[in-house]
Amino acid sequence: MERTLSIIKPDAVAKGVIGKILDRFESNGLKIAATKKVQLTRKDAECFYAIHAERPFFNDLVDFMISGPVVVSVLEGEDAVAKNRKLMGATNPKEAEAGTIRADFAENIDANAVHGSDSLENAVNEIAFFFSQRELS
Ligand code: CMP
Repeated sequence: MERTLSIIKPDAVAKGVIGKILDRFESNGLKIAATKKVQLTRKDAECFYAIHAERPFFNDLVDFMISGPVVVSVLEGEDAVAKNRKLMGATNPKEAEAGTIRADFAENIDANAVHGSDSLENAVNEIAFFFSQRELS
């Protein structure tokens, strides 16, 4: 059993597809262990994506992630990290397999609908970034 962090990004929240995306998780064997809608501050987004601080797209990424509320969720299940990434599809929606969340709901590599932890180690850190022990019990 694994846990992973999912973020439904501002583009998908604005489009009104929170329920449709959460349904993809639940219909594919991932339980929603915790979830909440939050407005990130610039500092939140800069800290969360600190690993990308030197990348040329960092400032645009931070601007986008604070452009509206996001929905953060902890997904739980067998192989949750890999399963979530398969359900999301490729980072660039133009390369995402048909039927994936990004193929169906994302516009471009910046507004790409969802984020998911890319390893179990990062999942532990990303979950702790957003959720307290009380919210996870
Ligand atoms: P995400 O999974 O949230 O992780 C970092 C985000 O940076 C990524 O999704 C994309 O939305 C965004 N991004 C923009 N340009 C690139 C790029 N060239 N390579 C990777 N991620 C990018």
